[in-house]
Formats: sequence, C-alpha cells, structure tokens
Amino acid sequence: MKTQVAIIGAGPAGLLLGHLLRAEGLDVVVVERASPDYVLGRIRAGVLERTTTDLMDRLGLGERMHREGLPHDGFHLADGERLIRIDIGALTGRQVVVYGQTELTRDLMEAAADRGLEIVYEAGDVALHEVESDAPYLTYRKGGRLERIDAEFICGCDGFHGPSRRAIPAGVATAYEKIYPFGWLGILADVPPCEHELIYANHERGFALASMRSEQRSRYYIQVPLDERIEDWPDDRLWDELATRLGPQAAAQIVRGPALEKSIAPLRSFVFEPMRHGRLMLAGDSAHIVPPTGAKGLNLAASDVFYLSEALTGWFRRRDGDAVAGYSRRALARIWKAERFSWQLTRLMHRFPDNDAFDRRMQIAELDYIASSEAAQTAIAENYVGLPL
Ligand code: FAD
Ligand code: DHB
Repeated sequence: MKTQVAIIGAGPAGLLLGHLLRAEGLDVVVVERASPDYVLGRIRAGVLERTTTDLMDRLGLGERMHREGLPHDGFHLADGERLIRIDIGALTGRQVVVYGQTELTRDLMEAAADRGLEIVYEAGDVALHEVESDAPYLTYRKGGRLERIDAEFICGCDGFHGPSRRAIPAGVATAYEKIYPFGWLGILADVPPCEHELIYANHERGFALASMRSEQRSRYYIQVPLDERIEDWPDDRLWDELATRLGPQAAAQIVRGPALEKSIAPLRSFVFEPMRHGRLMLAGDSAHIVPPTGAKGLNLAASDVFYLSEALTGWFRRRDGDAVAGYSRRALARIWKAERFSWQLTRLMHRFPDNDAFDRRMQIAELDYIASSEAAQTAIAENYVGLPL
C-alpha cells in the first residue's frame, strides 16, 4: 500500500493528527497494535485545555464534547484542611473542559470512516524502515500476512513504549528523564463527585486528587509507593484514605461506590529531542511524558499534532522543508514549559520519601503564599488552562 503519511498509534495523538491531515486532503493510514475496545478501555486523562477543544471544534467533532463535557472555571489546591480556589476563569478568561480521554478517542474513532481516515487495528510487529531516506516504509503483520506501507513521512504517535522513538539511532538525540519514587492509584466509580471542581490535595500522608468524568461518575487518585499492589487496596481502604487526604470539607461530601476500574500509573518526566529524524516525526507520549499532576499529557499530544499537521501540510502544499525542519523546535518550546509546570506542581503537592520537616514546611509556606497572592494564582492558572500555541 502507498500513502502520503503513515501514522503509528491510534491514541489521541495519532487519531487527531490523522483527522487534521485528512481535513487538508492528504492521504493517511493509521496502524494500531491494539483493538478498538482495548484502546477505549484505557482510563487515562480527564481535563481538556482550550487548545485541545478548539482542535476538536475545528474538525467539526466537538458536538458531543460540548454537550456532555463539563466546563470548569476553577479548581482547588488543598493542604489537608482548607481549599484554595484557583479561579482560572477570572484569572485567564478561559475554562477547561472535563471530558475523558476515552470519550475524545471514541469521537475521533467513530468519525474516521466518514472522513476517509483508514485505521488498521490489531497490526502486529510494526517496524519502521529507511526513515533517513526519502522513501520510508513500515511493515506489520495482520491475519498471518506481512504487510507494507510506503509513505513520504512516518509519524510515531505510538506512546512511550512504541517502536518509533527506538528507531532513532542513539547519538543523534538526547533523552532527559526524571523518575518519581511513587505512582498514582486511580479509582473510577459511578458516584457523584465530592465537589463541583477538581481538588488537588497535599496531605501529610501524601497526595490525593478528586476528579470526575460526569455529574454521576467520579475519578479519584492517591499517591502510593511504586511497589504498592492493587490487591492491597480494597475499595473501603481506598475510600478511607481519600477521605483523610482530601480533608474534612471534601470528605463530608464523598459518596462511596464499587470500583469500575482501579489501576496504578508510575510518574515520570521525560523529553526526547529532537522530535524528528529524517522522515520520521514523533508526537505525543512517544516523545515526552509529564507526571499527571498538571493534566498536561493529552493536551501536549494535541498541541504537538497541531504543529505537526501544519508542518506536513506545508510540505505537501509547497514542498516547504523549513516547516518540517522547524517542527521539533516549535513543539519543544511548549513542551518544556509544560514539563516545568507539571514537575513543579508534582513537587509542591506530593510527599517525597526523602522530604524532611523543612521540606514539608516549604510546601506549606508555598501553598500559603499561593492562597494569598493573585500573582501566584495567575501563574498557576495560565499554565493550567494551557499556554498559547
Ligand atoms: P497513547 O495514548 O499512549 O497512544 C499510543 C497508541 O499507540 C496506543 O493506542 C498504543 O496501543 C499504540 N501503540 C503502541 N505501540 C504500538 C506498536 N508497536 N504498533 C502500533 N501501535 C502501537 N494524562 C493526563 O493528562 N491525565 C491523566 O490522568 C493521565 N493518566 C494516565 C495514566 C496512564 C496509565 C498513562 C500511561 C498515561 C496517562 N496520562 C494522563 C497521559 C495521557 O493519557 C497521555 O499523555 C496520552 O494518552 C498521550 O496520547 P498519545 O496518543 O501520545 O499516546
Ligand atoms: C485527571 C487526571 C489528572 O492527571 C489531572 O491532573 C486531573 C484530572 C483525571 O483523570 O480526571
């Protein structure tokens, strides 16, 4: 098969990119290792920046997101006792929308056939070839056959563990990485949220987050050691711990229910640069990871593919090599700022094993400062709603 752009991975980055390029009339094929159900079964991000919702609107795919998503004008930081409201609406004039990654992915998936976006699911052994040449191609196995797709560009949207980043030879790129000594244990339950807005809590026993997917479905997280086992967290223990860490005000409103899903995700900061090698372009988690504290992962994937779609459109319309060459620099300028924000909020809100009493006092002093300073709140708010493209 021959196409203009072959995309590896049908997560948010791959699907959004595919739609953006189809909207420009380009030929695109997406190859995905998993099945559609598997992709939709992964519970991940929940908060969309305006940059991400704008992209969905531009594609004409934002209707359900606006109908079912919850626009939020603020969120809370908590220190175990009080709630500090960050009024993002008043401070930035913008909102975020609570709409699950699974729902966004479903909207993109369901529109694919109508828009002529071909997605090959359950493609095994995807491999990249000759990405340094003008005629790169990829191969995969499906139904016992080895298939080949020739393309002018290959886009690696295959997440942190996919093959694309690994196809770039050591020595031409640099990986920057920080691994945090804890993970997030998440629970999804069909119960009303304890608050209308999100609460990020720094409690002496560790971080907790109260989030949601709808007025009837809650998503909560707690910080746990990396070697923690889900079996050691029966629902009751998890609800008790959430009530303690979120503080008395939120605890009074928590409605408990059976877990629909429970999982542990490790926390990592990671940036791989440059994000292009020859005719291979990386976007989303394949090139960078943020700890989830700032809700930036999915939103960064969206801004990457916005830049990438412009670069590839420039190439196919005008043979603009500068647009392709400039993609990585343009995307990384925004990525590093989101890395900084996510890292800073993670440090502010979590218990680190080597934290001493002084470090704890510093966290409390910083939260106190934020509570009393509009300037500090504005800095948090403008990062939370997403920096301009
Ligand atoms: P992905 O969503 O990972 O998509 C990559 C796709 O590539 C997948 O469908 C995968 O199956 C496919 N793929 C992988 N290998 C191959 C292969 N060999 N061949 C073909 N296809 C392949 N962000 C937040 O903002 N908030 C959160 O709460 C949050 N929670 C998260 C929890 C977990 C466990 C993880 C892993 C991430 C979480 N994130 C969160 C981050 C956010 O979900 C990601 O940033 C976002 O999914 C990035 O989208 P992506 O399309 O780049 O990558
Ligand atoms: C959710 C996840 C986040 O990492 C975050 O910062 C906010 C919300 C969520 O899954 O709802």
